[in-house]
Amino acid sequence: MSEDKLKSLLEQVKYPGFNKDVVAFGLIQNVKESGKSVELGVKFSSEKEEVRQEILSNIEKALRGGGYEEVSIEIVQASAQPAPGTETPEAPPSIPGVKYTIAVASGKGGVGKSTVAANLAAALRKQGHSVGILDLDVFGPSLPITMGVHEVPKVLEGNKLEPVRKFDMSLMSLGFLLTDSSPVIWRGAMVSKMVTQFLFDVNWGNLDYLILDLPPGTGDVQLTLVQRVALTGAVIVTTPQDLALKDVERGANMFEKVDTPVLGIIENMSYHVCTNCGHVSQIFSTGGGDKESTRLNVPLLAKIPLNEEIMKAGENGEPLVIHLPESEAAQMFRDVADKLHELVS
Ligand SMILES: Nc1ncnc2c1ncn2[C@@H]1O[C@H](COP(=O)(O)OP(=O)(O)O)[C@@H](O)[C@H]1O
Ligand SMILES: [Mg+2]
Repeated sequence: MSEDKLKSLLEQVKYPGFNKDVVAFGLIQNVKESGKSVELGVKFSSEKEEVRQEILSNIEKALRGGGYEEVSIEIVQASAQPAPGTETPEAPPSIPGVKYTIAVASGKGGVGKSTVAANLAAALRKQGHSVGILDLDVFGPSLPITMGVHEVPKVLEGNKLEPVRKFDMSLMSLGFLLTDSSPVIWRGAMVSKMVTQFLFDVNWGNLDYLILDLPPGTGDVQLTLVQRVALTGAVIVTTPQDLALKDVERGANMFEKVDTPVLGIIENMSYHVCTNCGHVSQIFSTGGGDKESTRLNVPLLAKIPLNEEIMKAGENGEPLVIHLPESEAAQMFRDVADKLHELVS
């Protein structure tokens, strides 16, 4: 049998809960095939036992179904950190002490990127992870509003900035450093310097997750970011109606060029549930998120409804996940956090 056939069989095996397959996830290694027998390794990191078993049995089923009679699968345990000296020399550094750095990006503004970033961070914190949020939207910083922070960060020795603590998370935003009246006229060079400083000159301490709230699009900030720091992955937020735009794809391409996986898409303001009668209305076109996630071959992590509580919570400085933790929408953000953690760990 051919390698192409083998690959297409393996590509039928989706990672549980996602519509991306195990090949695209980089799980398959050391493939040796001859005639009707095949040997391969499956690289796991910290998947739950039932997820492992499901993946292994689905791989075996697909291969046997495709005509392989002898199937031998070996589990390869991925090490969390690359061994010292094995990193590629041109790869940018990671932030010391930070385990996972996740960028939240979007093609355009106003799609709810900051809202998603804040709720996702809060959901990860609720799961027991230590979490920081860096607001890199230099033109429209939103952490002061979404988290209700009006404190000015302390400057420490060696010109390091101490992040502001709120809701048991570490926060930094240009909005903390500017007064309402100061003009935000940043030129490319200044922007890139500021991004680098916010990544490396903030006393982040030990964090499991640093969530980066990016400005919309693929401008200077995003380019500096992907060149200066090793990102674990990116999450792209979109609304159903701008899926037709090329922006989402452009964003995904930017991350892929620097080998940063796009972990998934979140469709926000996806539909509306009437607070009186519970009627679900599809106010925008539907199915866009599914289409886009299939086209980019990345999971659709959630469809978050247009919801007054989400908006009010954000504008009152307390993300919904903290303000109304038992609400349905808060639960959706928690599910996204679970999926993400599963993906990166
Ligand atoms: N799911 C949602 N339901 C209702 N309002 C939302 C939702 N997501 C975001 N918003 C509101 O939409 C506006 C824009 O959201 P924001 O997160 O600031 O977008 P971005 O960061 O992409 O510019 C804010 O007023 C926010 O409260
Ligand atoms: Mg924003």
